[in-house]
Amino acid sequence: MTNRENIVRNQGLDDLLGRVSVSLEDGLMPVEIFGDAEVFEAEMDRVFTRNWVFVGFESEIPASGDYVTRHVGKDSVIVARDRDMKINVLANFCRHRGAQLCTNDRGNSLNFRCPYHGWVYRNNGDWRGAPDKSDAYPKLDTKAWGLLKAPHVETLYGLIFTCLEQEAPPLLDALGGGGWMLKALMDLHPNGMSVMGPPDRYRVRANWKTASENFAGDAYHISVAHRSVEKINLGQGFDAVNQFTINYALGDGHSCTGSATGDLLGEVGEYWGYEYAIRNQFDLSRLDNAQKEMIRLRPPAVGNIFPNLSFIRFTNTPPAGKWPVVYTSWRQWQPISATETEVLSWQLKWNFMTDEQASESYATGQFGFSSAGVFEQDDTVLWEGAPHVALSPWARKEGAMFNMQLGMASLGGIQQRDPDWAGPGNVYSPGPGEAPARDFYLRWLHEMTRGS
Ligand code: FES
Ligand code: FE
Repeated sequence: MTNRENIVRNQGLDDLLGRVSVSLEDGLMPVEIFGDAEVFEAEMDRVFTRNWVFVGFESEIPASGDYVTRHVGKDSVIVARDRDMKINVLANFCRHRGAQLCTNDRGNSLNFRCPYHGWVYRNNGDWRGAPDKSDAYPKLDTKAWGLLKAPHVETLYGLIFTCLEQEAPPLLDALGGGGWMLKALMDLHPNGMSVMGPPDRYRVRANWKTASENFAGDAYHISVAHRSVEKINLGQGFDAVNQFTINYALGDGHSCTGSATGDLLGEVGEYWGYEYAIRNQFDLSRLDNAQKEMIRLRPPAVGNIFPNLSFIRFTNTPPAGKWPVVYTSWRQWQPISATETEVLSWQLKWNFMTDEQASESYATGQFGFSSAGVFEQDDTVLWEGAPHVALSPWARKEGAMFNMQLGMASLGGIQQRDPDWAGPGNVYSPGPGEAPARDFYLRWLHEMTRGS
């Protein structure tokens, strides 16, 4: 066995992360991180239970007693609105013997009763009772036996986030440039946005990071992976994407990417191409100048908030004489294992929209990005490649790396950093680059290696 083989075969997680920190400076990534079970377990501990993560929308649980079940990393949680309208994130297991408490995706209940021996909890997590309580537990310290409750839950523009770490910065501070991006997308009207129904849910045999980095800023794949969409006239201008791409690397691994459609098409291409009946209702007074200019001239079409919350705001190619329909989809890449991810995908509407506008937006969004979406299917099958390579004995023996160098100045890429950018982080254009992906993995590496 050669020295190199020996190193590759025997390296532990720390060695692998050490290799990542060296290779990432050159825009290279060891393949193992996309399929290694040890990496996955560490991600669940270090990324998902120590950071703010998204768990749903306020509009999914508008009334007292409403709840949805979601995951924080590997943990099933109940996201419930209690009688005081406060949102709680509760561990979805019974404190008595660990039976799963709630098996529904969503519902309305003031209490959760364990199906095993019948302990009952309020929807704020408090222990409420048990069969034969007075005989069985006359002296039980009931305050000590409530459900585990996330110490931090905050909402921002209708999105609910939680953090399981006791010592955590406020959500806005933690999100940094990601919060700035969220505002530019969601705070365009005082009535905000809401979901149009429960999320589509489907599983893909891919690592969650591949999906996050794709939405963070992979414009490079569009003219190739989605070529068939253009060929059957469901999209157009895919070649121009490369020329007019803007990568917004907003700091801390939060990114978005769009096209300079306002510069390219004039007024028609401004504000994502929203029809006037909709864009005229926007109130941009709460945005700063960089946000205003971004959404007018170079609106972000996709983006990712670290670790696994992505959006897409995009249009269809309308029939002749019709205005394009813009849709907004948020999706969460829920890790299942190192090689499997569950996609949760919501379509959202502006609350001021007419029913007709909302249903057009929903249908268009589902057509493009849903379990059967014409774009989505192209992507998800291609994401299955990375875990195969991660588990390939040959690739590991060779110490194979993936290439994330696109746009790096050291390689003579044409992308330039915009020196006049007034928003957070950095902006790169023209042409597709992989700065957002590199930023995403820098943040990932930071989380994987920082002390608890
Ligand atoms: Fe829930 Fe026993 S496991 S009451
Ligand atoms: Fe795609």
